[in-house]
Amino acid sequence: MSEEIEWWEYDDAAEMAEAVAGDVQFIIESAIDARGAAVIALPGGNTPKPIYAILTQAKLDWKRVTIVPTDERVVPLGDPLSNVTLIGKSFIPKGARVVPIVPQATKDYKAAGKSADALMQDLHWPLDLCLLGVGGDGHTASIFPGPDFDEALNGPKERRALGVMPDPLPPEAPVARVTLSRQGIVTARALMIAVTGQGKRDVIEKAIKQGAGSSYPIGRVLADAELPVDIHWAP
Ligand code: 6PG
Repeated sequence: MSEEIEWWEYDDAAEMAEAVAGDVQFIIESAIDARGAAVIALPGGNTPKPIYAILTQAKLDWKRVTIVPTDERVVPLGDPLSNVTLIGKSFIPKGARVVPIVPQATKDYKAAGKSADALMQDLHWPLDLCLLGVGGDGHTASIFPGPDFDEALNGPKERRALGVMPDPLPPEAPVARVTLSRQGIVTARALMIAVTGQGKRDVIEKAIKQGAGSSYPIGRVLADAELPVDIHWAP
C-alpha cells in the first residue's frame, strides 16, 4: 500500500486545473534547478485539457522540459485519438520536447511497446513527475485488463513501457495502446492523479480499499506506490 494518499478537493474543474498546473510548474522548476532539466509524463483524455491550457502560460524554461505521454493509442500522429498529438499541440509551441512513443504506421502493438520501451531507456529516470488520469472503469495510463495486464503490472523492473490490447476495448478509443508500466509509473519522484466526477471518485476509493488485490488497474498501481500520492478531485 502506498505510504500515504492525500485527496485534494476543489469546487470545480477550473479551480482544480489552476492548482494542478501550479504543482506541475513547481515540480518542473525544482527539477530544472536541481539538474538543469525535467522529464515528466502527462496523460491524454479530456480531464487534463484545462490543466494544459493554464500550464502553457507558465514562465518556464520549456527547452529544458521533456514530456512523454503516460500512454498512447496505436494510431498515426495527428489522429484525433493520439495523446501525443494533444500534448504536442500544447507544449511543442512553447519549446518543450514531446516524445512520440508509437512509431508511425505501425499496427503491431507489441512491437510498438518494445520500441517505446527502448525510447524510454534514453531518457533520464526516474521521471520527475507522473501525472495520471483515471477512467471510469478504473484504468490508468493504458493499464487495462486483458492479455497484457500481468506484464504491465509485474513485468521486469527495468521495463518502463509496453504494448497493451485492452479487453474489452474501451468504447471511447477502441484501439491497442502503448503504456508506461506500473514500475515506470510508481518510481516517479512525484505521482499525481487528476480526476473529476463522483463516479471516478467512488471507483478510486473502492480500488484503494481493495489494495494489492484490486480488480481495478488504479488500485494495483496505487498499492505499489512507495511515495505519497496526491489525488486532485473536483465534482
Ligand atoms: C488515455 C488516457 C487515459 C485517461 C483516462 C481518463 O489515453 O486513455 O491517457 O489513461 O487518462 O482514460 O480520460 P478522461 O480524462 O478523458 O476521462
